[in-house]
Amino acid sequence: MSDVSEMRQKLVSAATKIMDGKGTLSLPSEMAGYLVDWRRRYRGEALAVMLPTSVEQVSELIKLGRSLGIAIVPQAGNTGMTGGAVPINNRPSMILNVSKLNRVRDIDSQNNSVIVEAGCILATLRESLEPADKLFPMLLGSVGSCQIGGLVSTNAGGINVLRYGNMRELVLGLEVVLPNGKIWNGLKVLRKDNSGYDLKQLFIGAEGTLGVVTAAALKLFPKPTNTGTAMVALPSMQSAVDLLRVFADGAAGKVEAFEIISKGQLENVLLYHKELPPMPLSSPWYVMIELADSSINWDPNQVFEQILTSSIERGLIHDAVIASDSKKAERLWRLRHTISEANMRKGFSVANDTSVPISKIAVFIEQVDQRLKQEFKAADVYYAGHVGDGNIHVIIVFDRGLYDTDEKRETAAARANFIVHEASVELDGSISAEHGVGLMHIEELERFKSDVDLEMMAQIKRAFDPDNIMNPGKVLAAARVVAARKMAI
Ligand code: LAC
Ligand code: ZN
Repeated sequence: MSDVSEMRQKLVSAATKIMDGKGTLSLPSEMAGYLVDWRRRYRGEALAVMLPTSVEQVSELIKLGRSLGIAIVPQAGNTGMTGGAVPINNRPSMILNVSKLNRVRDIDSQNNSVIVEAGCILATLRESLEPADKLFPMLLGSVGSCQIGGLVSTNAGGINVLRYGNMRELVLGLEVVLPNGKIWNGLKVLRKDNSGYDLKQLFIGAEGTLGVVTAAALKLFPKPTNTGTAMVALPSMQSAVDLLRVFADGAAGKVEAFEIISKGQLENVLLYHKELPPMPLSSPWYVMIELADSSINWDPNQVFEQILTSSIERGLIHDAVIASDSKKAERLWRLRHTISEANMRKGFSVANDTSVPISKIAVFIEQVDQRLKQEFKAADVYYAGHVGDGNIHVIIVFDRGLYDTDEKRETAAARANFIVHEASVELDGSISAEHGVGLMHIEELERFKSDVDLEMMAQIKRAFDPDNIMNPGKVLAAARVVAARKMAI
């Protein structure tokens, strides 16, 4: 019997006892869907996939992994963009998938908070809050399949960060199983707590490298009663930035989303849905805007009429449509939320996730566009993203006929990423605004982050996980974690 199958057998037999005979998958056909990211760019191997149903089981599985020298790859909805939940590390691994830990444990309406387990799907959480007229405002394309643990672990953003913040701002507390198997109950629902280091923040955005998030206490908001949606055609990226200012002043605190889409991107997503454009596509840029509030006598469409009419008169925008009912609004947002699927269908798509200060978005786009078009004459370059966060995704779609091998595709992707990352860092930006580092950006992080940054990160990793057992090969290169043994901050 080979070492691998021996190890698998040991793992499965011990795990089966921990999990009362259920939820241990080890056949290739059972594991297949867990071993590849949703964009099918990364495919890994694991000895087994575990589907624990309690926090205690998670703890026992981690202890088991430690004792057998098996790495643990935490996974939730597996909808990530950077390969962070796929086991590619040349080490024997198990996937610890939290999907079955999916209860909404407690809704506290007066405190505006909810405690929910890591495997709960975002859409399920949002629906479960409806009877209480509450909103958990995180919203992104994968709402129907992404899970809370993944959102926490990647510090997810999405379209409503502008008003409500990203996960870092929405999490009040966490329950985490540490790499030594200890369960940390940090499920506080407090708005104020200065009793020492803010430990939960270490796990938010750590991509499962410091522990497994099993539950989260999250902030809730009143569900807005009046909402409105508009789509606007604009002459330039700078006009979009200027229009955001106009809305921020004219509808202060009520702008839920302000999302830009370049013309080529919009055409591609319309093609994917075989839909006619909501307005003539004669401008280079389009913005989708959502206004929402619960004040009596406040009408979002009146605000849209006022601001958009005067913006057309001033030449700031070309044209606009206001959705006359919720069905039309949904149709507009569906176009925005299916961009990634549309691009995947079209070709090998490389989606960047940089941010720059809002004041520098226009110059960033101008520089990147020029450099990419010079380098890749045959590729399509699209833009879509979150103007209010300075986070515009630069998406390069390569023809699969021209880029017909893994090597050609990966070389082109690395070069395209480098161009985009370099331009953002030159403008004081970040190479990853909301998708995280995962597998995809480890080398880029080494290149673009300072030594002091990387050393502090490696020391934190080392303090929590000295044997590098928890999601190795993600966020930080293994060599850096090993080197951290000899250093002190
Ligand atoms: C989006 C994802 C890709 O904004 O972050 O569409
Ligand atoms: Zn995004």
